[in-house]
Amino acid sequence: MDKTTTFPLSFSGYEIEGLTEADAQRLLPLYQSCSDYVVLERGLGPDAAIALEEFQSFPPDRTEADKFVFGLKAATGALVGMLACDRDYPREKSWWIALLMIDPAARRHGVAKTLCEDFFRFLKTQGANRVELAVFEENVAGLRFWESQGFDPVRTAGPVHIGTKQHSLQVLARQL
Ligand SMILES: CC(C)(COP(=O)(O)OP(=O)(O)OC[C@H]1O[C@@H](n2cnc3c(N)ncnc32)[C@H](O)[C@@H]1OP(=O)(O)O)[C@@H](O)C(=O)NCCC(=O)NCCS
Repeated sequence: MDKTTTFPLSFSGYEIEGLTEADAQRLLPLYQSCSDYVVLERGLGPDAAIALEEFQSFPPDRTEADKFVFGLKAATGALVGMLACDRDYPREKSWWIALLMIDPAARRHGVAKTLCEDFFRFLKTQGANRVELAVFEENVAGLRFWESQGFDPVRTAGPVHIGTKQHSLQVLARQL
């Protein structure tokens, strides 16, 4: 598997694209349309560096080698969603989801649900057996989404400071 590896999507009208740092500028409009989430995360709207930062943020003791950023591309070519994740974190065969973000105009149509189902199917083919992630406790909609996808609470974490915000985190996990 390399950075441009994709997986089949069962949602018509969209496809998955494996993204690299060179695609950061193409993701900026998505961050801008998702400023609701960016403000929740950092208390400030998206700046020009925000998309690049996603490619350069890793969990403790991990590197760029295990970072994968998948774009959800509409028929127009626009990136209307993204899934950023880290392979084998916090342990081997477990993947860490750093961010799942869907353009507000496409939300509540089952896009994220389908994307996750297809991604998890793909992860199993890669030998993974578990997915883990952290949600800001303030992100009630995000928490509801992950619970609806079968994730269970593992522990709380934080506080973490991002921009002007301080967050408590809920760590969630599910077996594949
Ligand atoms: C969370 C997010 C990815 C969900 O994307 P989506 O495409 O709207 O989700 P889906 O339509 O596939 O929703 C599947 C189910 O999740 C739950 N859900 C999704 N959004 C929800 C919300 N705002 N409030 C409560 N439940 C929600 C529902 O059970 C939903 O099923 P339903 O629509 O039939 O009731 C999207 O709202 C988003 O990008 N938010 C900003 C970023 C974020 O918070 N990411 C998660 C933290 S990493």
